[in-house]
Amino acid sequence: MKFQGFCRKIYLCAMTEKDFIPKSYPAQVEQGEVTWQSPSNIALVKYWGKLENQIPANPSISFTLDSCRTTTTLKFKKKQQRADNFHFDLSFEGEKKESFRPKIQKFLERIDPYLPFLRDYDLSIETSNSFPHSSGIASSASGMSALALCLMSLEKQLNPEMNEEYFTRKSSFLARLGSGSACRSIEGDLVVWGMHNNIYRSSDLYGVPFRDEVHDNFKNYRDTILLVDKGEKQVSSTVGHDLMNDHPYAEQRFRQAHDNLDKLKKIFRSGDLDEFIKVVESEALTLHAMMMTSQPYFILMKPNTLAIINKVFKFREETGLHLCFTLDAGANVHLLFPEKEEEKTLQFIENELKQYCQNGQYITDRVGSGAKKLA
Ligand code: DP6
Repeated sequence: MKFQGFCRKIYLCAMTEKDFIPKSYPAQVEQGEVTWQSPSNIALVKYWGKLENQIPANPSISFTLDSCRTTTTLKFKKKQQRADNFHFDLSFEGEKKESFRPKIQKFLERIDPYLPFLRDYDLSIETSNSFPHSSGIASSASGMSALALCLMSLEKQLNPEMNEEYFTRKSSFLARLGSGSACRSIEGDLVVWGMHNNIYRSSDLYGVPFRDEVHDNFKNYRDTILLVDKGEKQVSSTVGHDLMNDHPYAEQRFRQAHDNLDKLKKIFRSGDLDEFIKVVESEALTLHAMMMTSQPYFILMKPNTLAIINKVFKFREETGLHLCFTLDAGANVHLLFPEKEEEKTLQFIENELKQYCQNGQYITDRVGSGAKKLA
């Protein structure tokens, strides 16, 4: 017990759900507004499968991205009287967005015990993305993290003593309750979410920066996103995660994710790009293999996804460069490569891969440093 007290105070390494329930607020806030910009992230070891309350079935790690971002402004005004319901307006890229309401309503319900002031305010949420609308890029990570940060800024006004570490952890904790992967979008540049025995301070409740040594090969890593299919997602992530319940290979897969994190830990230290590629591509294909072997089963890759993957293999063989792919739960392809191989790789993408993208569209991004509060 004595150790735990010490641990909490110095390292905040054992935060539990209770630590995120505020006791009282010393300050009064009538109205105001705040804006946060939060990035998307791309998982190297994938989160696929969850338990109740958005607890991941296995740990994951991601690169935080830089230019794929959501900007959210939260305006708040204290009500005359506290209400039973949440009151909020929503707009996306300047237009009212009724279709987002159920997701936000559910989010507010989930975070209510941790932000008990929510029903005291009329909220207006204005949000926009830096990436093209319906590009097939998941905006839930950037969107939910931006909203969580805005709400935390209001809580910080109510409790000005709050320290930065607590602010960041709780933002990630709340973002997780909106969308699991969103908890990895608060900070840069590598974030781990989910308990792992060999990763310091890792937690199922929030993301933490990966603090081990990282070789220069991985600094400023590039991610070019090829937009193969910009349509609606064929399987929502909620349905997808559920497919891991009673999945015949689930246990094995969860164990593999732990092992792959151990491998990546060594790889980040050594800078071994060939080993990095093996882990990252295998993770992407395993994610899709899980979907193909669930009941019901789904094939989310498109013919162009496979054409791109084969071209990547060939390019690597011919050039000895370290371009690799990863996938989310869809047909788009994320191409990861080191900064110093950028010129040749981008040329290859433009000349040989662009043809497989819908309307020739792709997005060049890189690893970034996390969310930013705008003035
Ligand atoms: C394939 O975070 O979108 O991108 O928690 O249900 O909102 P919810 O799921 P979500 O799942 C993302 C899954 C993934 C892999 C990953 O990002 O780790």
